[in-house]
Amino acid sequence: MKRAFSVFVTADIGEAALDRLRHLGYNVEVYPSAEPPPKSLILAKVQSGVDALITTLRDPIDEDVLAAGAGTLKVIAQIAVGFDNIDRKAANRYRIPFTNTAEVLTEATAEFAFFIMGAVSRKLYPSEKLVEENRWTSWHPHHPFLGDEVTGKAVGVIGTGRIGRAFAKKCIGLDMSLLLYDPVEQDASFVESVNREMELRFDAGFSSRRRTACYVSFDEALSQADYLSLHVPLLMPGKSDQPTYHLMNEASFKQMKRTAYLINTSRGQVVDEQALYEALINEEIAGAALDVYEREPLPPESPLRDPRLKDRLRLFHHFASGTHETRLSPDPEAGMAGRCVQAVIDVIEGNYDGDPAKMPCVVNKEAFTKEKSNSETS
Ligand code: GLV
Repeated sequence: MKRAFSVFVTADIGEAALDRLRHLGYNVEVYPSAEPPPKSLILAKVQSGVDALITTLRDPIDEDVLAAGAGTLKVIAQIAVGFDNIDRKAANRYRIPFTNTAEVLTEATAEFAFFIMGAVSRKLYPSEKLVEENRWTSWHPHHPFLGDEVTGKAVGVIGTGRIGRAFAKKCIGLDMSLLLYDPVEQDASFVESVNREMELRFDAGFSSRRRTACYVSFDEALSQADYLSLHVPLLMPGKSDQPTYHLMNEASFKQMKRTAYLINTSRGQVVDEQALYEALINEEIAGAALDVYEREPLPPESPLRDPRLKDRLRLFHHFASGTHETRLSPDPEAGMAGRCVQAVIDVIEGNYDGDPAKMPCVVNKEAFTKEKSNSETS
């Protein structure tokens, strides 16, 4: 009799998606706690010969785990678009395909960045608190505070992959000028389409001024933007020609306008948090809204918790893709859970001629292309 395939899932991704695996006869074990499993447990599961892991960005899928899976672990399906917790070189060395959930979270993440940009700029939190705490005494032209209008301002979009472009498209609706920067690739046809849309909006009288979108240097984005939104992957120095680790550092904050805001929904380590703290406390920038941190969950001792920053620094709990449909839909075209499960099925059932290089969700395709078999490419 055929052995049932076994899948260890490090966090509950919802019954609807997992049932697809159970219906195929797979043994599915879900780590029951909301906290991540210890690495020792993941290692033990891999050593015990599980066929697939479904992982989150909290799980260290490093050399130890991948070496333990050599020859037995068939796939690692990560429920996230980012995969900086997975050692790509080691996965390639042991020829273990890993997958991510790009595309299905693009709009949810982009709209979250858009909303928190508005939330911090228009002081939604202090306004709500005023009412909640019964401190709202009268209407006044500028007491106790004012916000900054977003409409018509310039937004720097740092990273113009899927999420950066989706964010940029939403900003067109607020008649913002777009200062695009991408360290790797410029999308000329995107810029052309955006400018055409902006032209149409102006011609139709929807927009009072002609707005434009163009690629600029990083320095130009820093110095000209009223809002700067980060949409780059985390790339470490020494592992990438274009590292993004601490892209936002003391020097970058000094180049920003004093009236500008930083928005980060990418990865925490793209921002030097100590430098951000200094920039905020010294009022070198107007504010920031963050969904991601250098250490997650944000430690109690983080300077970002300084109560003096509360109204200008809004902090969220790595929640940008956190909608019911985006996180849990079993439909691989709609939900991260569905996409993970489909990725496991593709590899285990040998879809796409059993070739991981042809599978849409596989990230490290280079390990499976003919020219590069036995590849150690990162
Ligand atoms: C979330 O941060 C993700 O990478 O999907």
